[in-house]
Amino acid sequence: MGSQQQATVTATMAAVVVLMVLCGSVNGESPSPSPAKGKNKVCTKGWECKNSVYCCNQTISDFFQTYQFEDLFAKRNSPVAHAVGFWDYHSFITASALYQPHGFGTTGGKLMQMKEVAAFLGHVGSKTSCGYGVATGGPLAWGLCYNHEMSPSQSYCDSTDYVYPCTPGVEYYGRGALPIYWNYNYGTIGEALKVDLLSHPEYIENNATLAFQAAIWRWMTPMKKKQPSAHDVFVGNWKPTKNDTLAKRVPGFGSTINVLYGDLVCGQGDEDSMNNIISHYLYYLDLMGVGREQAGPHEVLSCAEQEAFNPSSSPASAS
Ligand SMILES: *[C@@H]1O[C@H](CO)[C@@H](O)[C@H](O)[C@H]1NC(C)=O
Ligand SMILES: *[C@@H]1O[C@H](CO)[C@@H](O)[C@H](O)[C@H]1NC(C)=O
Ligand SMILES: *[C@@H]1O[C@H](CO)[C@@H](O)[C@H](O)[C@H]1NC(C)=O
Repeated sequence: MGSQQQATVTATMAAVVVLMVLCGSVNGESPSPSPAKGKNKVCTKGWECKNSVYCCNQTISDFFQTYQFEDLFAKRNSPVAHAVGFWDYHSFITASALYQPHGFGTTGGKLMQMKEVAAFLGHVGSKTSCGYGVATGGPLAWGLCYNHEMSPSQSYCDSTDYVYPCTPGVEYYGRGALPIYWNYNYGTIGEALKVDLLSHPEYIENNATLAFQAAIWRWMTPMKKKQPSAHDVFVGNWKPTKNDTLAKRVPGFGSTINVLYGDLVCGQGDEDSMNNIISHYLYYLDLMGVGREQAGPHEVLSCAEQEAFNPSSSPASAS
């Protein structure tokens, strides 16, 4: 198969995945929270967390404050960074306020809550870092250095997608906190957030709140019906089936990488981009005062041996 053909097949399959998301996903809007032990008490904590069982616990700003955000992303406003002045604490908290009532950073006790924030931001830091080996402060100090892809090699328009057709003259290169690529992904996320990202993908690189909102939506939302979200696999809402166990998928950080990136990163042994995501998570746990020893054993942190939740090739051709 020629590489062009291969690319088309991959793009078409990605479009199929998106269609399935459209038709069947449980999105972040109205999951029914399952109250622990039959208690239905709901609480409201100001604007940040309203009307949910999850709001009876601490909120994110109770345990994660401005100075901690500054510690984690210490180099983001240095003169050589590429998104100086863009990302800030307030945008993150404002965006998270939409998802805290659904359990983002509010599930379980304080330790789990802090770990989830570190895990989500670990993914973000890794994908937005410009901390190449020699950067001052170490390679892990450079998260949120970018808010968009610097030298796109293409416009990421899949013209075979009829659900989310490309807007003429618009480019769908990577933008955001967990960068979004391709027309169909901008279309799906725009629809979920009720913002016309298909016509205006640039909103993501012009508005840090929206950029964080899109990233948290992705963290909270399953790719397909009957699959868990990254949030679910991390906080323990998800119970592996026998098939999951056979595929070596276990609850924890490694499975969040699997949910978000599948076999692009997982099931390939000690892969660099996987290790980079893990390193950011551990570094943030330390900086937040949780400590990396709370992250659990390597098998849980890594997805090196896991099969993908969403294989990008057809099961028939998988070995
Ligand atoms: C709130 O925190 C407690 C521990 O402090 C935890 O047991 C409980 O599950 C949390 N509530 C929710 C809805 O996650
Ligand atoms: C940025 O996005 C947020 C979240 O969608 C929205 O509420 C806000 O109005 C936007 N800000 C601007 C300046 O457009
Ligand atoms: C487990 O995997 C087998 C073989 O791939 C499949 O036929 C079956 O439906 C799966 N079961 C579940 C519960 O997903």
